[in-house]
Amino acid sequence: MQAAEVLDFRSDTFTRPSPGMREAMARAEVGDDVFREDPTVAELERRAAGLFGREAALLVPSGTMANLIGIALHCGRGDEVILERRTHSFAHEVGGAAALLGAVFHPLDAPSGILSVESIRSAIRPADVHEPISRLVVMENTANLCGGKVVDLEHLRAVGSLCRDRGLGLHLDGARIWNASVASGTPLSDYAAEVDSLSCCLSKGLGCPVGSLVIGDEPDIERARWIRKMLGGGMRQAGVLAACGLYALENHLDRLADDHALAAELAEGLGEVLDERFRVDPPQSNMVLVHTDCLETCERAVAGWAALGILCLALSDTTIRLVTHMDLSPDAASRAVARLQSPRERG
Ligand SMILES: Cc1ncc(COP(=O)(O)O)c(C=O)c1O
Repeated sequence: MQAAEVLDFRSDTFTRPSPGMREAMARAEVGDDVFREDPTVAELERRAAGLFGREAALLVPSGTMANLIGIALHCGRGDEVILERRTHSFAHEVGGAAALLGAVFHPLDAPSGILSVESIRSAIRPADVHEPISRLVVMENTANLCGGKVVDLEHLRAVGSLCRDRGLGLHLDGARIWNASVASGTPLSDYAAEVDSLSCCLSKGLGCPVGSLVIGDEPDIERARWIRKMLGGGMRQAGVLAACGLYALENHLDRLADDHALAAELAEGLGEVLDERFRVDPPQSNMVLVHTDCLETCERAVAGWAALGILCLALSDTTIRLVTHMDLSPDAASRAVARLQSPRERG
């Protein structure tokens, strides 16, 4: 008997470069980018800056480095970064901003995962010799660990306005800003206009093998170039990677709407076949969260579904995340749901 095809919902980082992307990579004109002689990198940076309506962009190896650089643009030793506890920079970046920059994290809990203006306002420190200096707010759009939640423009605008009034910087982790833009119909440039710096990833829903960008004003991005070098992230013939980014912006951006539709279909199907131990959140972009009644249900479900060829990740003791992306076939949701239909197989 033929083994069932694996449906990999673990993350949109598992995509492999498409044939068109590999061709673009092979054709890329390259040079030494540390010497600013790689024309394809320069073109990607120009193109990205234009898309976001900002002065400049810098290609870096990862979203983690892009966020670290974003934080470094604003914070020195002892300076405080206000963010939600599930923000990637706090939860999943190895404490890099603390270890390498000496920045202090000030994590807040927001029930929705997205900080309210009021909670940020009350977290900003008074000018008191005993306290660290509140220097930066980091927001994330979409919010990964909250199931790909979209931060709407009005909210980001209100946070931006508070930060400007109080003299704080605002960095946006836009690893999946593409998804936020497609899901909400908000132009990338509208989001970018509200922040001092933003990071975005080519290596998630856009399907590139490597690459993120830091975006902002020219003087900041010039400093970012120096910080990237200091972190060991200066790249040489990176045009082969930039070519993937250019290809993705041309060919893989609009199709994110398909990933969102697939996530909606998956959530609906899971809601129908899973029993009362499970609760499925309606997705806002390309992620579906399934909440379970206890650790045992969660662990058994992840293992049981994997045995059926449905791969996903547990985000916590009781929450499972399934992510849609371009390497899944259009019938991936219906096939996953069909495999889960027998009660014995639900985990
Ligand atoms: C919201 C968010 N920010 C940043 C990153 C870090 O990206 P990278 O894995 O390229 O370091 C991720 C990775 O999944 C992410 O989900």
